[in-house]
Amino acid sequence: MPVIEVQGLTKTFRTYKKETGFAGALKGLVSRKYETTFAVKDVAFKVEEGELVGFLGPNGAGKTTTLKILSGLLYPTGGSASVLGYTPWKRDDGYRRQFALLLGQKNQLWWDLPARESLELNAKIYGIDRGIFERTVGELTEMLSVKEKLNVMVRELSLGERMKMELIASLLHQPKVLFLDEPTIGLDVVSQKIVREFLRDYNAKRKTTILLTSHYMADIQALCRRVIIIDKGTIFFDGQLDDVIDRFADFKLITIHCDGNKPLPPVELVKFGEVVEQDRQMVKLKVKRDRVIPVCKALLDELPVNDIDIQEVPIEEVIRQIFAR
Ligand SMILES: Nc1ncnc2c1ncn2[C@@H]1O[C@H](COP(=O)(O)OP(=O)(O)OP(=O)(O)O)[C@@H](O)[C@H]1O
Ligand SMILES: [Mg+2]
Repeated sequence: MPVIEVQGLTKTFRTYKKETGFAGALKGLVSRKYETTFAVKDVAFKVEEGELVGFLGPNGAGKTTTLKILSGLLYPTGGSASVLGYTPWKRDDGYRRQFALLLGQKNQLWWDLPARESLELNAKIYGIDRGIFERTVGELTEMLSVKEKLNVMVRELSLGERMKMELIASLLHQPKVLFLDEPTIGLDVVSQKIVREFLRDYNAKRKTTILLTSHYMADIQALCRRVIIIDKGTIFFDGQLDDVIDRFADFKLITIHCDGNKPLPPVELVKFGEVVEQDRQMVKLKVKRDRVIPVCKALLDELPVNDIDIQEVPIEEVIRQIFAR
C-alpha cells in the first residue's frame, strides 16, 4: 500500500478583488467582488514507502499548498488524501507523531532560545524520551556538523546552521514521512551539499518517505529519481527524472573542436543550429534532437574537426523551458 495517496485534491482561495478608483472603492463597500484562485486543482499521485520524490514547479504552482494540506495545516476544497492511512486534516494525534513538515521559508524554532533548548521544547511536545532525545541530537548534529552550535541562540545562528537545526527538530520524533519545502533555500553551496547528502543518507538508512520541493536542480538531481512536476495547480509530469529530458528536451548540444593552428573557416554556422558559444577553435551548437546526426555529418564534412562531443541540454535549462511555456 502506498504511504501517500492523493486523489482529486483541490484547494481554492477566495481573494478580495479591489476595484480601482473612488467609485470602485464605493462599489466594494456595497458588494465585494471575490476572485477564486485554484492553488491546487485535481491533483493525484501516490508515493511508496521509502521513496524520495522531488516536487517541482514554478513560483505559485501549488507545491507549498499541497504540502500544507498533506500536513493538515490546510483543509482542501475537494478530493481526498491519505498519508500512512490517516486523513491529514483530521489531525489525528497518531498522525502528528509520524510525519514532519519543514518549511524552509519559515522559522519554526524558538528564536530567543539556544538551539538546544528549542530542540528540547520540541521533544517535550512530542513526549520524546530523554535518552532517545540525547542520542538523536548527538547523532544528527554530528552528521550535520552543528554540534558546537547547540548553545547558540537560534536568532544568532547563520541561515545554514538554523536550517540544519530546523531539520534536526523535524526529525526528533523519527517521522516515517517527511515533507520538506525548500530545505536548502538561501544556503551557500557547501551547506546545500551537506544538507543534501544528509537527506540522502537519512532516507537510505531509515527508509523515510520524503516529498521534497526545491528550486535548485542540484538538489533534485542528487536526491530524486522520481519527480512530480506541477504548474498552475495541475500535475503535468510524474515519472523518472531521466525521462524529463527525453520528453521535454527538444535540443542537444554539439561541441566541436577544430585544428588548433588554423582559425575556423568562415562557414555559416547558424544553418546548423543556434551558436551557444564560440572561440577560435571551438563551437558549441544547440541543435534540434532529430537534426543531430545530419548536422554532425555536415560539420565533419565542412570543418577540420578534431573532436566532437554531443550532450544533453542541462536539466536546469529543460525545466526552465518547461516553466516558461
Ligand atoms: N493563503 C492564501 N490566500 C490566497 N492565495 C493563496 C494563499 N496561499 C497560496 N495562495 C495562492 O495559491 C497559489 C499556490 O501557492 P503555493 O504557495 O502553493 O505555490 P508554490 O508552488 O509553493 O510556489 P513557490 O515556489 O513560490 O513557493 C499561488 O497563486 C498563491 O498566490
Ligand atoms: Mg512554496
